[in-house]
Amino acid sequence: MRKILLVLAMIAAAWGVAYPKDIDRKWWKEAVVYQLYPRSFKDSNGDGVGDLRGIIQKLDYIKSLGVDVVWLNPIYESPNDDNGYDVSDYRAIMKDFGTMRDFDELVKGLHARRIKLVMDIVVNHSSDEHEWFKQARSSRTSPYRDYYYWWPAEKGTPPARWSLFDPKHDAWMYDAPTDSYYLHIFSRKQPDLNWSNPKLRQEVYSIMRFWADKGADGFRLDAFQFVAKDPKFPPLAEGLEPSLMGYSMGAGIHDYLKEMNREVFSKYDVMSVAEGAGRNFQDAHDLVDADRQELNMAYAFEGVDVARYGGYKLSTMKEVFSRWDREFADRGWLSIFLANHDKARMVSLWGNDKPEFRAYSSKLLSTFILTMRGTPYYYNGDELGMTNAGFGRIEDFRDKPLLYIYEYEKNSGGDLGKFLERAKFEARDNARTPFQWTAGAQAGFTTGNPWIKIAPNYREINAAKEEKDPNSPLNYFRRLTRLRRDNLVLVYGKYKLLDPPNEAVYAYTRELDGKKMLVLLNFSDQPATAATGVDFAKAKIALGNYAAPSKDGKLRPYEAVVYDLQK
Ligand code: GLC
Repeated sequence: MRKILLVLAMIAAAWGVAYPKDIDRKWWKEAVVYQLYPRSFKDSNGDGVGDLRGIIQKLDYIKSLGVDVVWLNPIYESPNDDNGYDVSDYRAIMKDFGTMRDFDELVKGLHARRIKLVMDIVVNHSSDEHEWFKQARSSRTSPYRDYYYWWPAEKGTPPARWSLFDPKHDAWMYDAPTDSYYLHIFSRKQPDLNWSNPKLRQEVYSIMRFWADKGADGFRLDAFQFVAKDPKFPPLAEGLEPSLMGYSMGAGIHDYLKEMNREVFSKYDVMSVAEGAGRNFQDAHDLVDADRQELNMAYAFEGVDVARYGGYKLSTMKEVFSRWDREFADRGWLSIFLANHDKARMVSLWGNDKPEFRAYSSKLLSTFILTMRGTPYYYNGDELGMTNAGFGRIEDFRDKPLLYIYEYEKNSGGDLGKFLERAKFEARDNARTPFQWTAGAQAGFTTGNPWIKIAPNYREINAAKEEKDPNSPLNYFRRLTRLRRDNLVLVYGKYKLLDPPNEAVYAYTRELDGKKMLVLLNFSDQPATAATGVDFAKAKIALGNYAAPSKDGKLRPYEAVVYDLQK
């Protein structure tokens, strides 16, 4: 046996493969996660809404990307006040999306292609149309009453709580049948579930086991940092900015996660990730460090929130991502992402979506995500360089929470022109327009009327066209996933930022067991270089987003190059 190992090691050494020592290898650290927004991916039956059979039709496409995990946004029964983030039956498939049989077939198809499935678990709140809530609101003595938070009206108005999606930003809603208020930190149709009730928690674990038994390989816990609340609702600290952070990471949250870990995660080989990483590094470590027995990873918002309306400074982006990397270099694990269904399109927000720079800058951003430490979460359509839709009229938007806030602005005398200007740039509907498959009718997404308008540039930007171009964002993304798979240094290697104040180029190295790679990303529309101290004569190009990548570190606009640094 030892002889065989020795021979293997010799062969590996001859091929230049370094076997890492002392790293805690896990499949969920090495995986690339592809986030798929079912409503907008592919419609199979012409009703204008994407569905599970549509995804099944595209399984070979998904496989061709080289991703390892698909995270599906919620597919459960829902009245769609928040596109599925308001669940009315956690064990049923939304009719728009298909049937349980379709789901089973989808899981089979993914697993046959060795792709894992992560389900979105939305349990900070349910829909107000969930049976639990219907029961709970019917009487103060209902057995389901304590599944939610109530404030009896005879006690006066409840202590102020801020809601993200309410037209009055008020998280309490008066409910006449029982003369009480219920809490909803998202929309009025998303009443908060009461996690201090052990019965509710057991219901949730049983739902999670139901999906794990059906083949789910992981869970993304939606809005989880808000689940633990003090049911006495003490007044919030004086002077607190109106925001949800005033009651995030409440006491009890870690006990709930440890319990969930015992009741669900420990029983399956599943990955777990929470939306939100708390208020500070300590919170984040407490959520994800291996010895805590809570979650595998969390996604922190500080990085993704750097890009805003009005632009951002590259040095800020570097500072934030480098700080988070440093903090998790030895303990814990994070995810890396620049986009999701709650953000505008990556290339419009972080890059440059003008026709001459769009493809280069989108490939540059993909290079960043796939060469950083942390598990990459990559949002569907970004592999094509899909852009913001450019909606300028309120009628074009479909996101109800956005419409609620528009109502708030309108009622409070806000500047609606400005609101729309911002929404055009940063509204999340930008990332929810249909996937652009072809240059044909409705971008090949549906044969019917799409539920939301298709971005007008689909004739230029679509998968069919990009398939034929070896240097398209699509084919480049495939090369990137391969590069990461073939180079463990890109997963586990030490990250070092070079030339931090450089406002044009983001430069860093990754290093592991004698293997070193250099990543140069020119985030500007001008030629640029970075002070790296690297001898480029010894550097080998591993990948670049221009057909002939720069050999000497002199970068063209939005050029991205990954070099293998020879020792
Ligand atoms: C999460 C989801 C978002 C949703 C909200 C309420 O932030 O990502 O889409 O609106 O939770 O469920």
